[in-house]
Amino acid sequence: MRTQSIVRLKADTTKLVVGLASAALIIGVVSRGETPVQAQNASVTFSETIAPIVYENCVSCHRPGEAAPFSLITYDDVKNRGKLIAAVTAARYMPPWQATHGFGDFADERRLTDAQITAIGTWVRDGMPEGNRAKMPALPKFTSGWRLGTPDLVLEMPQEFEVPASGPDIFRNFVIPSKLLEDKWVRAVEFRPRARTVVHHALFNYVRGGAYASIDGADGKPGFRGLAPIGANPNLTPAGPLGGWAVGGSPRFLPEGLALPMGRGSDFILQMHFHPSGKVEREKSTIGIYFAEKAPERTLRNLMVPGLFGIGSLVEIPAGERNHVIERSVTLPVDVRVYFANPHAHYLAKEFKATATLPDGSAKPLLWIQDWDFNWQDGYNYKEPVVLPKGTRIDVRITYDNTASNPRNPSNPPQKVWWGEQSTDEMGTIGFGLIPVRREDEAAWNTFALQQRNGTLLAAATNGTLQRVAQSLGIDLQNTPGAGQGLGRLLGRGRGQGAAPAPAGNAAPANPDSGAKPR
Ligand code: HEC
Repeated sequence: MRTQSIVRLKADTTKLVVGLASAALIIGVVSRGETPVQAQNASVTFSETIAPIVYENCVSCHRPGEAAPFSLITYDDVKNRGKLIAAVTAARYMPPWQATHGFGDFADERRLTDAQITAIGTWVRDGMPEGNRAKMPALPKFTSGWRLGTPDLVLEMPQEFEVPASGPDIFRNFVIPSKLLEDKWVRAVEFRPRARTVVHHALFNYVRGGAYASIDGADGKPGFRGLAPIGANPNLTPAGPLGGWAVGGSPRFLPEGLALPMGRGSDFILQMHFHPSGKVEREKSTIGIYFAEKAPERTLRNLMVPGLFGIGSLVEIPAGERNHVIERSVTLPVDVRVYFANPHAHYLAKEFKATATLPDGSAKPLLWIQDWDFNWQDGYNYKEPVVLPKGTRIDVRITYDNTASNPRNPSNPPQKVWWGEQSTDEMGTIGFGLIPVRREDEAAWNTFALQQRNGTLLAAATNGTLQRVAQSLGIDLQNTPGAGQGLGRLLGRGRGQGAAPAPAGNAAPANPDSGAKPR
């Protein structure tokens, strides 16, 4: 069984990595609309001023059957909640959008202008006049069909999943066989939840067909539980990320003809976050997949800073610690074009800040979230791709608050929290979706990505997290043969130590940073 163990160790290492990487390309792919407010002078009325603001910025979620808890369509809907609306808009709690305005320039930013907020405040203060109904704007049209056109492949959850009326949030994975007869390239995934009031966000991955057969439905309900388990189960490859969806998001195609691989015969894994609504709901989502006609010329890369969801940077957050900081810097080996930034952490994270420092010393803001809320798993798409030259340093700092005064702390009193995959564990990273500007730099990027990965694993082995996680997955690192390769080497049990390039004989995935390639 010696050979098997070696194979298994290698497989486990790769899979842990692939799986960790897989949640990273999440939700980079959503879009929203915006219109300017008209200048306001005389009296502010619902029909002429407030309705246009609400229709443009609120009804995408605040309408029947959507995720928000009430509609904001009629005069009465809005008037009945006027004071609350004035308060939540003035506080910029609504519309929900976590990125700091002006720190990074994002497409589809959900944000009211100062003039719009003032208009709402004035309207409420002046007694909320309706005004001339004839001046009401038309309610925006919401497509009930596929927004991106007819998909090439439509998948549906095999069975309904029942979400209880109340109780804690539920994280559940559903296995949907793709029945693909050949390897494909995915340009977009359109997600259509049925019980929209309870589905908060969803992540998409594919794994080798049948890889989850033993746990799918094992607890008597469809799917299996967990938060980011794609990496936790051996024998998943080929596997990889396919994007995601969050409340209020619209599907879009990846930019510039880019596409993500999806292997033949694979299972589509739908990982959902449910938030009970007060009423029992039954979810049976449908997924539309849009394929590229051929393999794309360029592969979308995922640079996680810190790497692999922070496994090498975050060890534990002591109970009661208000300001736990993890920081990581990487220097780019080639010129890159960055399309989006996807922050990821769980409930304790408070602040994310990412800045690029160019070789000439100038700084470019990339993303700043000052009050992270796990419930809004948005991806942030740059309006224009951000070009960063070789030698640019990306600095990411993530701060956690593990005190009782953090209202989002799932534990009261606070508990010591480790890096891990459960929602009560923590992680922390920003995944940047990018490509090297020049095709010739692809090889240099691959080498860099492998070094990053190995460096992260080495750090995780040095700080003990890797061993702890491996143990929880039933992988025995210490007694596994294969020193000199993969983990054994990283752990210093073999020929050398340190961040090794692709271990000999272990075919490096063509795209080590964003999941395995289908074969
Ligand atoms: C992307 C979806 C989305 C958009 C856009 C959105 N909301 Fe909400 N809103 C929600 C959800 C979900 C909730 C309930 C959860 C929560 O309070 O965070 C909510 C809650 C609220 C609440 C109740 C807050 C409370 O404390 O009880 C108000 C008021 C509100 N929204 C107003 C607005 C207004 C006004 C706009 C537009 C300017 C808007 N929302 C845009 C999704 C949205």
